[in-house]
Amino acid sequence: MMKKIAFAALAALVGMSAAHAGDAAKGKEKSAACAACHGADGNSPAPSFPRIGGQHEDYLLQALHAYKKGTRKNAIMGAQVGALSDQDMADLAAYFASQAGPLVTRR
Ligand code: HEC
Repeated sequence: MMKKIAFAALAALVGMSAAHAGDAAKGKEKSAACAACHGADGNSPAPSFPRIGGQHEDYLLQALHAYKKGTRKNAIMGAQVGALSDQDMADLAAYFASQAGPLVTRR
């Protein structure tokens, strides 16, 4: 009985974290719209668009949530995140974080 309960609790926990963890491969599939401005790898050379490739995943996720909540206001990005789910944002953050950054060589 205890074992069963413990297993169910563990499964729920694992399920929960899986639902929120970003999947970089799925993020890549969802990133076509972003590429138009930020570049395919998040490193657009255009000065009007911030480089997001290689940025920390939690920073990117935080920024996307803030645009969605309206605590960070920007007309362009506000429109971009409107249709994104929490999972979409997690996947996109994982994808761009996995790309090489402009200044630091990593991985
Ligand atoms: C039409 C052009 C455009 C598109 C398309 C676009 N962005 Fe942006 N993005 C911008 C601009 C401009 C900013 C700077 C906004 C600001 O000052 O807050 C920005 C900012 C950001 C930031 C914050 C960067 C930082 O350093 O704080 C993130 C993260 C981001 N975009 C992710 C995305 C993702 C993910 C997508 C695709 C779903 C996307 N953007 C699509 C133009 C765009």
